[in-house]
Amino acid sequence: MTPVNPVTPRRILITSALPYANGPIHLGHLVEYIQTDIWARFQRARGHEAIYVCADDAHGTPIMLKARAEGIEPEELIARVREEHEADFAEFLVDFDHYHSTHSEENRYCATRIYEGLKAGGHIATRTIQQAFDPEAGMFLPDRFIKGTCPKCGAADQYGDSCEVCGATYSPTDLIDPVSAISGARPVARDSKHYFFRLTDFAAFLRDWTGSGRLQSAIRNKLNEWFEAGLADWDISRDAPYFGFEIPDAPGKFFYVWLDAPIGYMASFKAYAEKHGLDFDAWWGPDSDTEMYHFIGKDIAYFHTLFWPAMLHGAGFRTPTAVFCHGFLTVNGQKMSKSRGTFIRARDYLGHLNPEALRYYFAAKLSAGVDDIDLSLDDFVQRVNADLVGKVVNIASRCAGFITKRFDGRLAGTLPRPDLHELFAAEGAEIAEHYETREYAQAMRQIMALADQANQYIDEARPWVLAKDPERASEVQAICTQGLELFRILAIYLAPVLPRLAARAGAFLNRPELDWASRAQALTGGSIQPYEPLMTRIEPAAVEGLLAASSSNLAPTKPAPTPRAGETPAMDPIAETIDFETFARVDLRIARIATAEYVEGADKLLRLTLDLGAEQRQVFAGIRSAYRPEDLNGRLTVMVANLAPRKMRFGVSEGMVLAAGPGGGDLFLLAPDEGARPGMRVK
Ligand code: MSP
Ligand code: ZN
Repeated sequence: MTPVNPVTPRRILITSALPYANGPIHLGHLVEYIQTDIWARFQRARGHEAIYVCADDAHGTPIMLKARAEGIEPEELIARVREEHEADFAEFLVDFDHYHSTHSEENRYCATRIYEGLKAGGHIATRTIQQAFDPEAGMFLPDRFIKGTCPKCGAADQYGDSCEVCGATYSPTDLIDPVSAISGARPVARDSKHYFFRLTDFAAFLRDWTGSGRLQSAIRNKLNEWFEAGLADWDISRDAPYFGFEIPDAPGKFFYVWLDAPIGYMASFKAYAEKHGLDFDAWWGPDSDTEMYHFIGKDIAYFHTLFWPAMLHGAGFRTPTAVFCHGFLTVNGQKMSKSRGTFIRARDYLGHLNPEALRYYFAAKLSAGVDDIDLSLDDFVQRVNADLVGKVVNIASRCAGFITKRFDGRLAGTLPRPDLHELFAAEGAEIAEHYETREYAQAMRQIMALADQANQYIDEARPWVLAKDPERASEVQAICTQGLELFRILAIYLAPVLPRLAARAGAFLNRPELDWASRAQALTGGSIQPYEPLMTRIEPAAVEGLLAASSSNLAPTKPAPTPRAGETPAMDPIAETIDFETFARVDLRIARIATAEYVEGADKLLRLTLDLGAEQRQVFAGIRSAYRPEDLNGRLTVMVANLAPRKMRFGVSEGMVLAAGPGGGDLFLLAPDEGARPGMRVK
């Protein structure tokens, strides 16, 4: 029998990034939670103590404003969203040991403790800074909540920190005609005392920490760039009104959401530890001999590889063993987009498809790198059907019938090919290594190669031929037992990815244990339960149904989509009334998009040639994130024809097309009803 490598149990704390409590979980998020969950399940299957915690990230301006827009208290919003998040995760079989919220007593306690530790060490400074203030809303405005005309190129309606048209970055005070995105009022400059974390105190520590094998090379290179550029102190306070924790001894000042967000890992663990009698300091104290890993997306590496370790170190806690970054999800090769129906919510997916199919597909695509991963929907259907249904489950369905019908469910007492069993069990060492190093794609490839071998064995042994000869009944029983045994080992290898399928396989074989070591003990002599299909083919129609459902989320009555990290919800200032004359001065025309093309060097723009009947215009439109050029050719839309020509980096823009929506992938070009012709005036 294959010796099962005896493993020394490790104590491992595992986290995924905390999703914002103002929007639904979507398939992009799920890359991370599925990647982490597979790793946690794998570690448990190896006999380690692996604790996987997470929480909702519940603080900050966008959440405060979203609650306000819904006319409810933020507490009510975050409670509702947390419930939705937890339900989504449960159905995708993401098995947290504990799920918490950053708006919790544990987090207030931990954040206060860390802040006071940093303060005692002299790592907190205060400075008065000048910031834009909205006199109508009575609040300071984050840069992204200020809009105005770009000081560089004159493009209207740009955010306070950068211009999407010419790419310039600036400070909100440079904007021409700035307005608050909240009230539409003109912001005024106002002084305020802010609290800073002196990151610069930790420059030497961080250089050492980030260079010590804790980070992927791509991330380390990025960090070196940041080091070259020089570290700066970090503004950790925000003025009231703010949804968060008030800073001790600083009335009216709140911790910035990103200060207490990572502390949420600690708080979630603390809640778990209290419930299960674990020693908090043994895991978080400076001399802890436990391991700690954060799984995150590459967009939030800065927070996790600079601020967070420095905060922990400065306040006398242990730092993470490693931070694992993954890339972003694209769908059909492009950024997820609402207009294409590829901004897919977890909930919508669940209404049409099997969660384990997605878990498998992501596993088959994931590596330890930070490259983006693509969900190509055709490939998804094909891959899941070919691998899971066609290869893996097929082994069981080919063998089970004979055992049930001819042998009353009883298995043979010995295997005809013990060498195959040995081979399958031995491969477990390498497959485990792939899981451990997060090379899931390689693990899946190796498991599927074994599934091919098992099928090949059955093909060659031809039990269906032997079954015609009553004299050879025991051979049939032995072959099918062998097939089911190989299937059992595959189920163990796939269990971190497909926990439900593996559990059902275990129940069917009367061998419920799925830990890595149990692969060695062959399946012989017992009996099995009647076989029921363990997984069925994905019908392409199910995917079409999902895309249709995702597109229909666009109903105009829905509240604006929720922003990402540090972003603002795109709210347009409420325009003051204008008289008819003013409106009539805008020359709106129907235009036909004669050509649309990418603009080299501009990741937001498409160059459109617009046909107005009598003339053609060149317009640069910031719609690249939502449209592919080939989908625009020939379409009718509406343009502002008398907008003063604007010289841009890539040429002169002679007008503007009209689109609705907050931006990004979420933009909808206006289109006239049938019958409209290029050049017609819109009035
Ligand atoms: N609240 C912060 C994290 C705080 S952690 C102390 C946040 N939240 S998020 O909801 O925007 O994202 C949660 C995680 O999902 C992040 O790690 C993010 O990188 C990941 N993803 C969000 N969209 C994603 C894709 N489209 N693709 C892959 N991962 C994505 O950031
Ligand atoms: Zn500009």
